[in-house]
Formats: sequence, structure tokens, C-alpha cells
Amino acid sequence: MDRIAITGGAPLAGAIPIYGAKNSALKLQAAALLSAEPLVLENMPDLADTRFMAQLLASLGVEVAWIKEARTLRLHAADIASTIAPYDLVRKMRATFNVLGPLLARAGHATVSLPGGCAIGARPVDLHLKAFEAMGADIHIEQGYVKAAALRGLRGAEIEFPFVSVGATEHAMLAAVLAKGDTILRNVAREPEIADLADCLNAMGARIEGAGEEEIRIRGVTSLTGAKHAVVADRIETGTYAIAAAAATGDVLLEGANIEHIAALAKLLRASGVSIEAEAKGVRVKRPNGRLAPVDFDTEPFPGFPTDLQAQMMALLCMADGRSRIRETIFENRFMHAPELARLGAQIAVQGNEAIVTGVDRLVGAPVMATDLRASVSLVIAGLAAEGETLVNRVYHLDRGFERLEAKLGACGARIERQKEE
Ligand code: UD1
Repeated sequence: MDRIAITGGAPLAGAIPIYGAKNSALKLQAAALLSAEPLVLENMPDLADTRFMAQLLASLGVEVAWIKEARTLRLHAADIASTIAPYDLVRKMRATFNVLGPLLARAGHATVSLPGGCAIGARPVDLHLKAFEAMGADIHIEQGYVKAAALRGLRGAEIEFPFVSVGATEHAMLAAVLAKGDTILRNVAREPEIADLADCLNAMGARIEGAGEEEIRIRGVTSLTGAKHAVVADRIETGTYAIAAAAATGDVLLEGANIEHIAALAKLLRASGVSIEAEAKGVRVKRPNGRLAPVDFDTEPFPGFPTDLQAQMMALLCMADGRSRIRETIFENRFMHAPELARLGAQIAVQGNEAIVTGVDRLVGAPVMATDLRASVSLVIAGLAAEGETLVNRVYHLDRGFERLEAKLGACGARIERQKEE
């Protein structure tokens, strides 16, 4: 298993290109199942997760072609060869579950294993399934599989989610576009990935209004066409490198980033003393010398502070001048990075969904273990700021979501390398 070695203390200076959003790309890939014509996705992140999703699609009969130099993926689902997504292809990553809705909408039935994914809480799929039931599907769970059928087709429905779920909002959209009649989704997620999915589906001929707002209205159509769509810039990658630049006292341009998509983070960074501003080519982050001020925050659905940046922000606050309070409201088990950060000398007290971080004036490098995708990158960030060497083990988590991480940070002056283990 590979590991990443970082020698801390080097300031970051330069430019980091921001790639397409993993979390959007995965749902766009699933959208290819909805049409018999090709879907061409540009600005595709080349990651373990997007490769894995492509493998699952291939097993369902989709023709998959990566055009690596062009960062493009072409998906052609001329025929659906199988409507079964087996356990081995679904357990590793939760987003693979999103093939259920498109298969159900296009083929009238699907059998999809219940999902796995990062160990950051229970993460059930009850909201997804209730949405399909509301659209007229019969749903049964048997031996770990969801068996769904709507043999006479899905029909539009009014669905009010009891709480905001990114995955359930997207999944309901992916099914409702081919349902008979109108669907209204209320209390939906408003993440930029939702609008990205709607833009892509509309380019395929769907009729979706209100994505990014509180209510999404969808008029079902009988079939969708092919389309070309560029994946939205990854706001989590943007935020991660912004925090890395802040931790390593840098001056970095995040090329292609959209500051509106990280507004909650930008506000906190400014409050702690970091400069972050939009420029013509992206977002510039500058950290002056001296210690940062502590800040308090809660994770919330968009436009609030994203749970996917909580670990990274915690790593930054470990060296702030005072006490910060972090409340995780989205997932119940998402502080697994805290004991690892403590190995570098961080002082973090976790109680339930709250963490109190008491800033220390130095961190010292140590071997640490990545526990999940975002947690692992928080350890890299802490390593950039720590004295001496930090070894991050189990980096396969990182490879799920961060493309060319060492190369991007290395090009800005970070002393970071991947060590291959035989
Ligand atoms: C997506 C993102 C993930 C991010 C999360 C929240 C992808 C591939 N992943 O995950 O990186 O951390 O949004 O921004 O896009 N829930 C239920 N029942 C359901 C669905 C969700 O109880 O049917 C709960 C979850 O356990 C969680 C909360 O709702 O506590 C929010 O989860 P959700 O927004 O659905 O997250 P994901 O779509 O899984």
C-alpha cells in the first residue's frame, strides 16, 4: 500500500489547477444510462472513484471510452445489457447506488446492492427509496439487494424530503426526468453539483427547473438524447488547496475555481486572517506570517460550511492562536481524523458531534493513518504545517478523490512524495 511522505515547513507559491468535481462527475456518469445516445463528459476527474463508476457502467452494457489527454469520458448506453449492479461493484463506493434510478426509469426494473462507501456514519438510503415509491415503483429489499420495479413506467410525484440529502435529491432527479407527468421536489439540496446535474440532464432534453433553489420542478419526457457537458469545478478540491495554502503560509492561485461555491469557507478563512479573493483566472489565497485567529463553525448543507471540508479546516485550526469549536451536523461519526491529528501534537477534545480545538504553536511530524477520503487529506495539510516528516499511510483513500495531489502541491514548493510499497 502506498504512503505519502511530507517534510513540513515549506511555504506554497504558484498555481494549482482545479479539476472537475468528483461528486458531480459520478452522478453525471449515472445519467448516461438514461439515453441511447452518447453522453460526452468533459473536465472529467480521473480518479479511482470515477474509474470504478465507469467499470460498473460497462458491466451494465455501457460503452466506455476515456480520452485521457482531453480529460473527457464518452459513455454510450445504446442498450442496457444488465439491470443488476452486484455487491462487489457497489460496496466500495456509495455513489454507485445512483445507477438504480436511471435503470428503473429506462428499463422499468433494477436490482442494486445496498451501498458501502466511507465509514463516516450510517448513511442509509431510505429517502432515495421513498422517492422511487412515490413515483410508483415497487421496492423490496432481499439479501442486501434493492429490487425495484415500475413495469408500466414511473409517474411524476410531489415529494417533500424530511431533511436535506444531496444523494436523494440527485437520485430523484435522475429518475423523474423520464417519469410520466410532473414531479415537484421540496426541501432539496442546493449544492452546486445539483445545478450541474440539472444542466447536463437539460442538455440531454430533460425539463428541470429550480435546481439550486428550494424547490425543483421536473416535467417528464419520453426519451433523452446525447449531449456534451463539462463537469463543474470541484469546490471541495478548491477548498482543500485553499486550506493547504493557508496552513503552509502560501500565496497560491487556484485556477478555474469558483469563489461563490466556497463562500462559507472564504468567510471563515478571512475571519482567521487569511486573504482569499476571486481573480480573472480563479481564486487567490494568501496567508500572512503570524498565527491565525481561531474560528467556530457548524457543518451544514450548502450554502453552509461543507462537511467535506471539516477535517481540513480542523487541521488548519490546530495551530490557531486560541480555541475553535466545530460542530458536525451532517454525519454522526466524522471526527476520526482527530486522534490522528493528535499524533502530531494537536489538542482536540471530541464530545459527541462537537470538537474543541485548542491551538498549539507547533505540530511535529509523525506517522499517521488515513481513515477516510477527506480525513486523509487533512493529515496531508497538517503535515505541510508540521516540523519534520509526516508519513500518511493508507493513501488509497486519497486516490479516491484527489487527482495528482503530490504533483499539484509539489509544483508549488511542498516537499511531498509518494512512497510505493512492494
Ligand atoms: C454526498 C457527498 C458527500 C458529502 C455529502 C454531504 C457524493 C458522492 N457524496 O453524500 O461527499 O459529504 O453529500 O454533503 O456526492 N441520509 C439518510 N437517508 C438517506 C440519505 C441520506 O438518512 O436516504 C442521511 C445521511 O446519513 C447523512 C445525511 O442524510 O447523515 C446527508 O447525507 P447526503 O446529503 O445524502 O449525503 P450523500 O449524498 O451520501
